[in-house]
Amino acid sequence: MSALPILYWPDPRLSTVCDPVAPEDDLGGLIRAMFDTMYAAPGRGLAAPQVGVLKRLFVMDCGWKDGEMTPMVCINPEIIYAEGMVPGSEGCLSIPGVLAEVMRPERIVLRYFDQEGTAQEVPLDGFEARCAQHELDHLDGIVTFDRLSPEAREVVEQAYTVSFPARPA
Ligand code: NI
Repeated sequence: MSALPILYWPDPRLSTVCDPVAPEDDLGGLIRAMFDTMYAAPGRGLAAPQVGVLKRLFVMDCGWKDGEMTPMVCINPEIIYAEGMVPGSEGCLSIPGVLAEVMRPERIVLRYFDQEGTAQEVPLDGFEARCAQHELDHLDGIVTFDRLSPEAREVVEQAYTVSFPARPA
């Protein structure tokens, strides 16, 4: 295991638009370390900027907490189709201790390159669709707070300010 330190909001790197991954980028060690970090956290998704790497990739595994390993590596991901809008409660490893209610499309098709460099187009729904959109937001410098109304944001930011000092670093 080689878990990396996770950046906490409002670290400015979490508000930065990340650069595309280039073909010559060697990601093997980073991807392994990102999975180690995500599973240790424990979480179900982790984007590269959350460990200080400002590149467009994330890892997720929405099944492992329920006993089914479903690891995905999404490089240069984009949403090519989205439909429906549903609210859902989202935590974030970079905003520990706070849940935010975020409206998002219910079903998407995600296009990305996997770890082998193969182009994929995958339909996602339910929690997987929400998780992928949350992680893709990180690559655009967007956190859950940025998806809230000013009133809702004030409430959760206040809760975060109160809870954060008590969290282990
Ligand atoms: Ni997050």
